[in-house]
Amino acid sequence: MSGLALRADRVSLGHGSRLVVRDLSFEVRPGEVFAVLGASGCGKSTLLRSIAGLLRVQDGTLFADDKPIFAPSPDRALMFQDDALLPWRSVRRNVELPLAIRALSRTDRRARAEQWLDRVGLADQADRLPAQLSGGMRQRVQLARTLAGEPRAVLMDEPFGALDAQTRGAMQRLLADVLSSTAATVVFVTHDVDEALFVADRVAVLTPAGIRTLVEVPEPRDPATRGTPLVREARDELLAALFERNAA
Ligand SMILES: Nc1ncnc2c1ncn2[C@@H]1O[C@H](COP(=O)(O)OP(=O)(O)OP(=O)(O)O)[C@@H](O)[C@H]1O
Ligand SMILES: [Mg+2]
Repeated sequence: MSGLALRADRVSLGHGSRLVVRDLSFEVRPGEVFAVLGASGCGKSTLLRSIAGLLRVQDGTLFADDKPIFAPSPDRALMFQDDALLPWRSVRRNVELPLAIRALSRTDRRARAEQWLDRVGLADQADRLPAQLSGGMRQRVQLARTLAGEPRAVLMDEPFGALDAQTRGAMQRLLADVLSSTAATVVFVTHDVDEALFVADRVAVLTPAGIRTLVEVPEPRDPATRGTPLVREARDELLAALFERNAA
């Protein structure tokens, strides 16, 4: 299945009468990993929820493959920072959740869930409950669950924000590896400039006036390029945009 092309055309986002972002336009190419950075409260989660179809835009239009987004769709899966696993279901049955709406036999659902658990290194944890796992393991279950439904776009809201630095690094490498075998388009929200530069093809800084800075990552998802001059240059540009914003 191919990745969705996502597009915002002069979109305003907000809650009730309160506008958070005005006049936002951008395009995410099919299969691209597009990272969004921005100060706390600038509207990153609001943007993801809008792309997910959980929140109406106030003005303009969001498109998925040139079709306006009006409602949630299994094509666009949202993965949260906090733990959204069902505590009473085993790890395997959590991963099976997005498969329930597909016309798959029980055996196929189970096989697909186990395949994804294997992919994230948790094949031996399938029968345990979420509470019996560490935070990093639970995020891996969430990643498996999100991808098991074969969404055409994955919307990740600071998915590794609650993890310690070491686990976070491992999750970034796992994600990079897993993404190499899916065609899904990814919108990845993070606070962490280095995480964005490792995971994404392009990195944008979101401000109340739309996207301010957009950089192309020289060698996405290649651990060898961390700290190379081109990546450092991109990093400086992003940090400058973030600080300028905070100072304003
Ligand atoms: N359900 C809501 N109702 C009303 N206002 C909201 C709601 N959710 C968020 N907001 C407001 O919208 C603005 C943007 O919030 P949002 O959660 O999108 O920011 P964010 O960029 O994701 O921040 P963070 O980096 O802290 O997660 C904030 O001012 C917030 O208070
Ligand atoms: Mg947020």
